Amino acid sequence: MSKILAAVAWPYANGPRHIGHVSGFGVPSDVFARYQRMAGNDVLMVSGSDEHGTAIQVQADKEGLTPQQTADKYHRVIVGDLQGLGLTYDLYTRTTTKNHEAVTQELFRALVANGYVVPQVQLGAISPSTGRTLADRYIEGTCPICGYDGARGDQCDNCGQQLDPVDLINPRSRINGETPQFVETEHFFLDLPALSGALGRWLDTRTDWRPNVMNFSLQLLKELRPRAITRDLDWGIRIPVDGWSDNPMKSIYVWFDAVIGYLSASVEWARRSGEPEAWREWWQNPAARSYYFMGKDNITFHSVIWPGILLGANGQGDRGGRPSAFGPLDLPTEIVSSEFLTMSGSKFSTSRNTVIYVGDFLRDFGPDLLRYFIAVAGPENQDADFTWAEFVRRTNTELNDGWGNLVNRSVNMAVKYNGAIPAPGTLTDLDVALRDASAAAFATVGEALGRARFKDAIGEAMRLVGLANKYLSDAEPWKLKADPARRDTVLHTALQVVSDCNTLLTPFLPHSAQRVFEQLGGQGVWAAQPEIREVSEDGSADYPVLTGDYTAQQATWRSLPIVPGTPLLKPTPVFSKLDESLGETGPEWAPVTP
Ligand code: MF3
Ligand code: ZN
Repeated sequence: MSKILAAVAWPYANGPRHIGHVSGFGVPSDVFARYQRMAGNDVLMVSGSDEHGTAIQVQADKEGLTPQQTADKYHRVIVGDLQGLGLTYDLYTRTTTKNHEAVTQELFRALVANGYVVPQVQLGAISPSTGRTLADRYIEGTCPICGYDGARGDQCDNCGQQLDPVDLINPRSRINGETPQFVETEHFFLDLPALSGALGRWLDTRTDWRPNVMNFSLQLLKELRPRAITRDLDWGIRIPVDGWSDNPMKSIYVWFDAVIGYLSASVEWARRSGEPEAWREWWQNPAARSYYFMGKDNITFHSVIWPGILLGANGQGDRGGRPSAFGPLDLPTEIVSSEFLTMSGSKFSTSRNTVIYVGDFLRDFGPDLLRYFIAVAGPENQDADFTWAEFVRRTNTELNDGWGNLVNRSVNMAVKYNGAIPAPGTLTDLDVALRDASAAAFATVGEALGRARFKDAIGEAMRLVGLANKYLSDAEPWKLKADPARRDTVLHTALQVVSDCNTLLTPFLPHSAQRVFEQLGGQGVWAAQPEIREVSEDGSADYPVLTGDYTAQQATWRSLPIVPGTPLLKPTPVFSKLDESLGETGPEWAPVTP
């Protein structure tokens, strides 16, 4: 039994999340975590809402709320959506907790003490018309590296490079088009060049990363510069250094605090479970493995900045040093990054009305259809397009006609002929071939899931579904009226493979898996679901978190022999066909525009 940390990217609490977001961090991480639990490993899955920084400030201004009110509002919405999708976080919390502030400040102080975070004067942008600071991402201009004209002050979306606003050629404000003024301002910088040797040695030991992530990270390593990790912004965590901590206009950069959330959420989880030191088993354990899940625009922060923070806080860069109060912390085992999900060719954008919100989707279609689409057709290795036509096609032909139909006709026949799971007689070659394929699938699908190769995994599982459907067509149990013993053997074989397919599909389709389990006569919890709990820190107002008890579930990664004689009831279909017209029109709340 291994300790596995599933570290899931923290969504900004500046609006409801769309299906592009959850295809990057949400569904893949949950499929992985569910599989690892079924395989007997001890998973800690943590994340939360990313609530600091300009993104929240700007939304608050738009809505006439304070940043905290904005974060409170959308944190609650996001928690509801993630719960609805069935994402099994051990703790989904938020970054505006006292615990998170304390953990962030401790790592910051350790980095200062070890000499990897140093103050430096830089040029900061202000808006000449308002006199206010212009955040990096609200400045636009030409990328000095690749010449792309829509580069932002923090990053170029064309070449992926991290930028400083002063580097931009022809900088302009994205808010009102004016040319920003650059004035001197002092900030703390993370000295990445002093960490680059250690980062390179660590990257060299990484195996099995998706090639896009590894190549991108190696490239970043060649161009490391010190990065400012504080901002001229009041909404954020105070800088824990004398002479700075009482300055309300300076705070820690949102990305610096957000990545530390993986650690702070683990610490919070341990405290809430009544074993405050338990987080250490995932963070200070050479045998533990950690997997970080995100969309590709987050790679830099996870494959360079976060490991850099950890190395510096551990005292493991060129300047040496001593570990923070937490002791030495483990670096990521693997960065699992997805590409982007587009909708009918255009990047998801709230403004251009091409957005499909998770909440709307869940209300009309439930969680498993979306989980299936993302797993089978999502942006695992390249950008992928969501179209309603493709969603309808996959739901109808693969889930309904393929998997749903296999379950339905197998259970229906057993109900009709036996009223219970029949006992098998001697197996023929046909039966044995299917049973062998089914037994082998646990290894192939499991291997792919363990390596976060989700498309391979679900493809293999669905291939077995296809074989089982073909088996029924070949064996024709409905024609075996005169040979009930043979019919019992065929139905037993079919039901056993239905049960196996259901196990293999459980990480992807946990809600339907529970129903199929019950249709096969199972009782109790097969696949556990997360729950929303209202919690508080001493003195603070209640806030919702996601958590759950996933240890009691029965789902296990092996073929569980079905028991002859188990009574069966006439099943109701697990899936139903979507109206073909949905593919042409889309739903009212996300219409297909010609
Ligand atoms: N909020 C960021 C985004 O939505 C992701 C933060 S992930 C973490 O792109 F690393 F900061 F945790
Ligand atoms: Zn560029």
